[in-house]
Amino acid sequence: MAAQQRELILAVETSCDETSVAVVERGVTILSNVVSSQIETHRKFGGVVPEIASRKHVESITRIIEDAVREAGIELRDVSAVAVTQGPGLVGSLLVGLVSAKALAFALEVPLIGVHHIAGHIYANALVQELTYPLIALVASGGHTELVYVPAEGQFRIIGRTRDDAVGEAYDKVARAMGLPYPGGPHVDKLAAQADEEIELPRAWLEDDSYDFSFSGVKSAVLAIVNQAKMKGDVVNKAGLALGFQRSAVDVLVTKAMRAAKEFSASQLLLCGGVAANRGLRAALGEACERAGVPLAVPPLSLCTDNAAMIAAAGYLKWKRGQFTAFDMKAEPLFSLESWSVVQN
Ligand code: KG4
Ligand code: ZN
Repeated sequence: MAAQQRELILAVETSCDETSVAVVERGVTILSNVVSSQIETHRKFGGVVPEIASRKHVESITRIIEDAVREAGIELRDVSAVAVTQGPGLVGSLLVGLVSAKALAFALEVPLIGVHHIAGHIYANALVQELTYPLIALVASGGHTELVYVPAEGQFRIIGRTRDDAVGEAYDKVARAMGLPYPGGPHVDKLAAQADEEIELPRAWLEDDSYDFSFSGVKSAVLAIVNQAKMKGDVVNKAGLALGFQRSAVDVLVTKAMRAAKEFSASQLLLCGGVAANRGLRAALGEACERAGVPLAVPPLSLCTDNAAMIAAAGYLKWKRGQFTAFDMKAEPLFSLESWSVVQN
């Protein structure tokens, strides 16, 4: 079959601490999705160290590209376009992906497509099911917490975002204060499930009509309880605290997402980003959607966390429309999602 007919997008994702390359056919069929995580390297520092992250990307990107092409069972010359995360993310990390993608696209003489990372998280869902519009996406990860209104394919409007910590970041900081390993979200989730009583914590609702979030208040409340107990020599009920934190975060996320789904008459609610793995969040959102009669879509875990297949899925939106990116494109650490829409307002 001719290369162009197969519509094979090779995508590169290096925005944070995962080096990933994928090959996806027609925006939906994953032929390979290789992810190399740097978690072990950053764990001893309790978080991602940007300088180390970019060096690690440099060390592994060539091998990951080769692995992804081999696993996909294709030849590099079969590739129709190269997509790459342009932003947001850590600038040094983004640059490694960008330079590799440019070199590949230039050598193969195929189009280059810069992709918005959040559009990737949202379109991870397109790899597992058909999307129906209008939809609301709740993006919850270590770097982002956003409610996005998607009126039609490839069109984005951020209606709410965190004003301070991302929800995953707050999970990680709470976990660290409780002496749990990095990344702490899954550990807090596990502890919360073991609690017999909840230590109640505040919820940050902000203004009545706001879809924004704030997690630094509840995070500080946890830190204060842990520190006070330490000073007094008391033992903290860590499980109760984990449950209190989880309920506070989940309550606000679910309530605002459901309000948005109603206001924007969403025919689907998407949950994406690493925090979509959280059992409390999945359960609460599942119940709320069932009550409201709104179908909920959550990608499998491997597609919730950072990966290049989601970048290929989003890149395909631009490929279909012939919207390619110039070879002098720059890394955009603070890239705006709206500006990446396939139709400009
Ligand atoms: O999407 P992701 O892999 O990376 C970013 O783009 O940020 O998300 C990672 C975040 C981390 O903060 C991690 O603690 C959190 O997702 N996370 C969880 C759970 N699993 C991962 N947070 C709460 N509960 C979980 N089960
Ligand atoms: Zn991400």
